[in-house]
Amino acid sequence: MSFFDLPRTPGIQCRLLRGCRLQRSGDGMSFAVRQPDGRVVSFLPWEEEAYAAVLDRLSRGAHAAALRDLALEAGGPDRATAFMMVLRRLAAAGLVEFPLLDEVGERAVLLPQWAAFVPSLATEPAPEIGLDRFACIRRDDRSWLLESPLAGARLSFPELAALETSIVRRALAAAGFLERAEADPRRREALEQWEFHDLAAYRRHRRGWHRDPMGATFDHRETIDPPPPTRPPWPGERTALPPANAAGASGSLADVLERRASLRIYDADRPIALGDIGALFDRAARIRGNLATPAGPAGARGDFEVVVKRPYPTGGARGELELYVAVDRAADIEPGLYHYDAAGHALVRISGRTPAVSSLLAEARTCAGGIPETQALVIVTARFARVMWKYRSVAYALILRDTGVLYQTLYLAATDLGLAPCALGAGDATLFAEATGLDPLIEGSVGEFILGGRPAQRSAATREAAGTGTVAGSEPA
Ligand SMILES: Cc1cc2nc3c(=O)[nH]c(=O)nc-3n(C[C@H](O)[C@H](O)[C@H](O)COP(=O)(O)O)c2cc1C
Repeated sequence: MSFFDLPRTPGIQCRLLRGCRLQRSGDGMSFAVRQPDGRVVSFLPWEEEAYAAVLDRLSRGAHAAALRDLALEAGGPDRATAFMMVLRRLAAAGLVEFPLLDEVGERAVLLPQWAAFVPSLATEPAPEIGLDRFACIRRDDRSWLLESPLAGARLSFPELAALETSIVRRALAAAGFLERAEADPRRREALEQWEFHDLAAYRRHRRGWHRDPMGATFDHRETIDPPPPTRPPWPGERTALPPANAAGASGSLADVLERRASLRIYDADRPIALGDIGALFDRAARIRGNLATPAGPAGARGDFEVVVKRPYPTGGARGELELYVAVDRAADIEPGLYHYDAAGHALVRISGRTPAVSSLLAEARTCAGGIPETQALVIVTARFARVMWKYRSVAYALILRDTGVLYQTLYLAATDLGLAPCALGAGDATLFAEATGLDPLIEGSVGEFILGGRPAQRSAATREAAGTGTVAGSEPA
C-alpha cells in the first residue's frame, strides 16, 4: 500500500522540498510554493487562517495522516479530502520530499523524480539482496545520492550506513533500487541488453525521468567567461586550402543522396589531395560567420553570446566541433596530423607521423573492418565547454547529435566531390590526447571519418570489397 493510501505509513513522512517556501499569493486568496529558482506555483486556493497550521507542519515534515487530521480539524471531511489531493499534486510536481525515519531519527530522504512516484515500503528484503546493477551512488555538494534510471525517486542520505537500515532497505525495495526478478519476459530481455551507462544517459537526456535543470540554463554565466566561438589557432605551419570550385559540377541533392555510400577502398593512383580536402571542408565545415545573440532568458543581464554559423547545424549554434586530419598517404600533403582552421580555411600542422598518429590511423583501418590502406582520417573533436556553458542535462547528447549531423554533411559533400567517405563509430580518445597534448576534458575526440580518392571504376568486385566495416573493429558487421 502506498504512502497516500495508508493512514499512517510508518517510517515515511512528507515535507515541502528543501529550498522551497510556502507563501501567500498577492491577493491573499491562496497559498503558493516558491521554488529555489524563484518560480512560484500556486496550489492552495484557501484563505482561511486555519490551514496555516497544516501548511506549517508540511514545511517541517509530518506523516500525511497527521496533516490530514489537522486539515480535518480545521475544515471538516471535505477540506481534508481536498487537502490530500493537493498534497498528491504537490508530490507529482516534485515539490514534496519523503524523509525516511526509524527509532533513531531521519535516515534518508526520497526525492521524487517521476510525476507518478508515490513512496511505499516493501516487506524487508532478504539480507543477500543488493542494489540492482543500474543503481549508482555519487555525491552532490551536500550528501550522498543513490540513483537508478529504473526508480522514480533518488535517495539522499548523510552516511553510507543508512543503506543498511531496515526502513531504507524497505523503501529502496519498493522504489525499484534492489535486485529483483523481472516477471515480464520481453522487459527482461530489453533490460538484459541495456548497459548501465546507456540507460543512465538515456534517462538523463530526456524530460520526465528526472527533475534536474534541463536545456539552456546558462548556469555558468556569472562565474565563467563564455568559451570563444572559434578555437584559438594552433601555432604550426599553415597551408591555405583552396575553396570549392563554385563553377564545378555538382549533382542535385536527390542524386547525391541516392549515390551516397560508405567506401573503404581507394584509388591508389590518385590519392586524396589538398584540393579535395579544401573543397570538402569548404562545402561541409568552414565557418560562414559568427553572430551575437542574447545570452540567457531574454538576454537577462543584457549579455550577448556569439554563435557560430557553418554549413551544418549544431544545437544552439554552439559550433563546438573541430576537425583534425591525420594524413597517411596524400598526393601533396606530408603525412602527419593537422588542424582545420575553419575561420581561415587552412590546415595547420601539429606534428608529423608520430607513433600516436600512426596508431590512430591503424586503429581506423581496424575499425573499418581491417582495410589495408588509409589515406586520410578526419577526427572530430568537441570543445565541451561551448555546449556545457549553456546547457544542462543534455550537453553530451547534443554533441553526439551534432557529430551525426556533421557525418552526414561530410558524406554528402564527399560523395558529390567524387571522394570515398566512411564514418567510423569508435575511436581512441586517449590516443588522440597523446597525439595532440590536448586535455580530453577540455577538447576531446568524439568522432572519426575516413576519406580517400574514390576508385575510378567501381566494379561489382570492388563494391563487395567496400564492405560494411565494424564499429568495434573486432569483427566484420
Ligand atoms: C554513426 C556511424 C558509425 C559507423 N561506424 C562504422 C565503423 O566503425 N566502421 C565502418 O566500417 N563503418 C561504419 N559506419 C558506416 C556504416 O557501416 C554504413 O553507413 C552502413 O553499412 C550502411 O552503408 P552505406 O553507408 O554505404 O549506406 C558507420 C556509419 C555511421 C553513420
